[in-house]
Amino acid sequence: MHTTSELQEIIEKAIKGLSYSNHPKNLYDPISYIMNLGGKRLRPALVLLAADLFNGSLDEALPAALAIETFHNFTLIHDDIMDNAPLRRGRQTVHEKWGTNNAILSGDVMMVESNKLLTRVKVSVLKEVLDTFNATAQGVCEGQQLDMEFENRNDVSIEEYIDMIRLKTAVLVGGAMKIGAIVGGATERDANLIYDFGENLGIAFQLQDDILDVYGDPEKFGKQVGGDIIANKKTYLLLKLQEIVNTEDAVLLDQQAGNKNTLLKIERVTALYNQYDVKDLATEQMRHYLDKAFAALSAISVPQQQKEEISGLANELMNRES
Ligand code: IPE
Ligand code: IPE
Ligand code: MG
Ligand code: MG
Ligand code: MG
Repeated sequence: MHTTSELQEIIEKAIKGLSYSNHPKNLYDPISYIMNLGGKRLRPALVLLAADLFNGSLDEALPAALAIETFHNFTLIHDDIMDNAPLRRGRQTVHEKWGTNNAILSGDVMMVESNKLLTRVKVSVLKEVLDTFNATAQGVCEGQQLDMEFENRNDVSIEEYIDMIRLKTAVLVGGAMKIGAIVGGATERDANLIYDFGENLGIAFQLQDDILDVYGDPEKFGKQVGGDIIANKKTYLLLKLQEIVNTEDAVLLDQQAGNKNTLLKIERVTALYNQYDVKDLATEQMRHYLDKAFAALSAISVPQQQKEEISGLANELMNRES
């Protein structure tokens, strides 16, 4: 068993070692740019932690971990276009720096790079790994589509929201862990349990992301604080507020959707969040999904103490600042 920080060191080194073609320069430069902006490297760490949990070889799992991180970074480039986001990991987003068309194409080629990395897994598990990866990637697209459609709807239920974040975020966290488990030689039952762990952790993770989007420290968060409010994103905070707000405040809240003064909009919506304590309600919901994740983890047929790195990382994530 390895510690998470050992695994993260392996990942950092391997990412630094990735090289891309340099022609056309503007196709490949954004890839090196985004891949080397830092980030928590959560998903590749989960691939390796899952492989390690079943005593799999890290060398064999590493290309899959890199594939998952490359895919994740591709989704960030396209997500930032869709969300009109100026900042990523504390720096200019790819589409702001290179233009939207360039960002689309660099993202596309990253999907290809992910596939190239994935085909490096051993042949005996290749099909299963690719099937899991494809199901995951398709789920992310479905989630992103729903996320955008929800911006223009006023009748989104919390149930629909949870399903949307499950798709856009959690299936990748689950898929990363399932791929690690498959490479590591887990039984089908255990691979599915670790998927369930990852999916529920991913839901908790996205709830936390929604909280940080409002309450994050701009110095540490690395993204534009209030971005979700500006874009009328249907986050848990907003949906919960809509559910409990009194009639008078509901009118005030409704008016904000069309408020073109973004600073004032952020200020007013945040004030309502504070007034109705929706941050605490979102945190409660996050805990609920973390508990579900831990229930799946404890059912995996591996000695409990071997799971401590994974549960430690999950707990840490819930207190993160970026
Ligand atoms: C950002 O993911 C996208 C979401 C699913 C919220 P991370 O918060 O893992 O981003 P990095 O990779 O650490 O920058
Ligand atoms: C993350 O949703 C989903 C994907 C990137 C696929 P967000 O739009 O909330 O992610 P951030 O906050 O921009 O990282
Ligand atoms: Mg976004
Ligand atoms: Mg988004
Ligand atoms: Mg977000």
